[in-house]
This record gives sequence, C-alpha cells and structure tokens, in this order.
Amino acid sequence: MTANSTHVLHAMMTTRPASIVRGEGVYLYDDTGKRYIDGSSGPITCSLGHGHPEMAEALMEQMGRVAYVYRLDFTTPVLEEAAAKVSEATNGWMDKVFFVSGGSEATESAVKLARKYHMERGEPGRYKVISRWLSYHGMTMGALAWSGMPGRRAEFGPYLLETGHIAPAYCYRCWFGREPGRCGLECAHALEREILLQGPQTVAAFIAEPVSGMGLCAAHPPDEYWGVIRDICDRYGVLLILDEVMTGFGRTGKWFAYMHSGVKPDILALGKGLGGGYFPLGAAAVTAEIADAIAKGSGSFTAGHTWAANPMGAAVVSRTIDVLRRDQLVERAAELGLYLGQKLGTLADHPLVGDIRGRGLMWGVELVGDKKTKEPCDPGKKLYQHLAAECIRQGLYLLTSGGCDQGRAGDILMLAPPFIAAREHIDEIVGILGRVLNTLTER
Ligand SMILES: Cc1ncc(COP(=O)(O)O)c(C=O)c1O
Repeated sequence: MTANSTHVLHAMMTTRPASIVRGEGVYLYDDTGKRYIDGSSGPITCSLGHGHPEMAEALMEQMGRVAYVYRLDFTTPVLEEAAAKVSEATNGWMDKVFFVSGGSEATESAVKLARKYHMERGEPGRYKVISRWLSYHGMTMGALAWSGMPGRRAEFGPYLLETGHIAPAYCYRCWFGREPGRCGLECAHALEREILLQGPQTVAAFIAEPVSGMGLCAAHPPDEYWGVIRDICDRYGVLLILDEVMTGFGRTGKWFAYMHSGVKPDILALGKGLGGGYFPLGAAAVTAEIADAIAKGSGSFTAGHTWAANPMGAAVVSRTIDVLRRDQLVERAAELGLYLGQKLGTLADHPLVGDIRGRGLMWGVELVGDKKTKEPCDPGKKLYQHLAAECIRQGLYLLTSGGCDQGRAGDILMLAPPFIAAREHIDEIVGILGRVLNTLTER
C-alpha cells in the first residue's frame, strides 16, 4: 500500500483527503467534526445544498417502485415526466432529452446526435467538432479531444482526435490584444476562419460553454458574441452545441445561460445541477428540428449506455426541477450572485487579485503576480494548489485550476455556492478567502 494507506485510488496518491461523514445545507463535516463551508457546490454540482430531505425521499420512492429498466426496451412514467420538465425549463425550445450518467457522456451524446443529424440529411462527411482553447467538455476521450485545457489533455494526447480549436472568449487576456467593447468580437469571427480552413462540408458542430468552467473560471464574452457565432454556424450548416453542464439549471441566474443572450443552441449538453447533486446525471437535449430529422431518417438513436435513462436519475431530475421552481431558487441564484459579486469586489485591491468575473452565482477570481502587467505568478509555485489546500485548512471548500494563461501559467479559483445559501454564508466564504489570500501573500 502507498503512503496514504488506503485501497482507494485518490487523485493525490501520497496524501489522504479529509473523510466527510455528513452534509447539511452549505456545510460538510469530516470525521473529526471539522466543518467546511461549500463555496463551490462541490464541482458546481450540489446546487440544492447537502442533505436535502426531499431528494432522499424522491430517490427512495422511485427505488421502491422500480430502480432499473433498460431504455432500449422500456420507458417509465418518471422518465417521461423528467424529459417533459427539462423541455419546459427551456420554454419548449428543446424538444427531446436523452439522459445519461454525467457531463462527459452528455457532451459525447450531443456530438453523436449532431453527427446523426447530418448523416440523416445526406451529409455523412460532416464529423468535425470545432471547440475553443481553454474550454472543458469532459474526461472521456472524445470530450477531452474537444476540450482545450492543455494540462488536462497532455497525458492523453495520443488518443485525441484533433478537429479544430479556436481562441477562447477571454477578455482579461484577449488573445487578439483588444479591449472589451472595442474589439469587433474577433474571437467570435475566428470560428468562420476555422470552419473555412477545416472545410465547411466536414464540420458537424461547434461546441462551447456559455460561461467558462474550470479552464477560465467564469470568463464570458459579451452577449453579442453569441449572435455572431449563431450567424456563422447557420451560414455553414454547422450545429451549435452549448455545453451547459456547469451553467444549466439556474447557475447563472437564469434557467440556462443561453437565455442571457437569447441566442438558442441546436443541442444542449447538461449535467451537474441537473440532479441538484443527488445522482450521477447528464443529458443531451435537442430541438424539434434535430429530433425530426433523425426520426424521419433512420428513426433511431441507440448510442447509449447501460445506465442511460435510469428511473432513479429521472426521479431526481424531476424533483430537482420541482424544488428549483417552488423555492424560486433560480431567481435566488441571480440575487445572491449579485451579492457575491459585490462582496468579492472588496478583494479587488488585494495584491494577488488580477480579475474578478462572473454571472449569476458563478464567480471566478484570477490571481496574478503583478496587477499592472497581469504577469501570472511563477507556475512552478503552483499557487492554485496551495490556495485550495489552505482554503480546506481554514474550512472553505472551493475549486481552483491552473494554466489559464495559454496553458503555461495562471492561477484561478471559482466560487459557486449552493442556491440555498444565505447572505451570511457568502460573507463567511469571502471572509475566509480574504484571509487565505493574506496567508499566501505572507508566505
Ligand atoms: C462544462 C463542462 N462540461 C462537461 C463536463 C464533464 O462532466 P463530468 O465530469 O460529469 O463528466 C464538465 C465537468 O466539470 C464541465 O464543467
């Protein structure tokens, strides 16, 4: 056995993480009784907080009724209900929903649906997926190939089929050296160039996160960006897949982040908050146009998984949506997010803080070595890892990542508490973060 004496293959194999024995609301408790405030809803997943009694009830009820049926041969009332509620949450824009077990399966299913659509319409040459550098779409090989985080891709490079990445929408470190508001949205127009270079007749889809996840921690373009992207996609017959695995179901203060710009995708990839943090879930949702093309063609989409469309997962989706609606949690995320943004503003003058950005209840902070020049901290110091460890030590859980500056350097963190948090929890989170930044500066 390795030094951390466990049979679990933990992410860090020489240390052992704290053992969590209980969760309640925004808090987690370990086996020594230490309390942690969950500043990022796990990995932006537990939007309903921990220990929600209704979620346990929904799961238990469904497990008692029927826990498993195989989706190729059966449906269940609860699956039909969950799909109808997801469609309703998009105001009907998404017509059909294919449930899977996580975000990576969701983005892969979304791409398979895009490919199917083109094949059914007599364009089997369209298979390429263009995506953005510093994006993240999952760890399975396809999803990782479309992802653009150099650090996460590095070890598995030989397995990744490269079909085109464009510059991120990253105003703080604009790849085109432009100023926000006076930039001509070059990062959006880059898509047209890439489609032309790849050959439009070979491109199936463009996939992007409306608000960046861990690659750029809540960086997001002005809303007009999406209009330019939509036009380019339409011009070349390329489908627009929005990866709302992190942003969907209220995280950005609207049911889906695309609703801020009003620019609608052809396919949505969903996960994380889809189940409020109570079941391993993902989904790919398509418009009626996509679904009809497949229905009228081969009439089938069988590229699923054993646990796809699981009734227990469906029960969790259905109850999550009910709770979000009844308790007006999407509205609450919007309101609480404004407060979190204001509170984070109090850290703006800290010597380590280069940028604070966010939307709804999803906020990123980028740390720098020099505020004026935006020079990142020495990557050898692995500041983002020390930051995460010090937060845990001081009782705050949050997400951090490295490599936002072209993969070579850059330290960022993400704050995205559960929607059920109160203002005093936000105060506590930002208070601990401020103290942790001071501790790191002193070191
Ligand atoms: C935007 C986005 N897409 C896809 C994924 C992959 O989801 P999962 O880890 O559930 O496979 C993630 C995970 O962090 C994500 O943030």
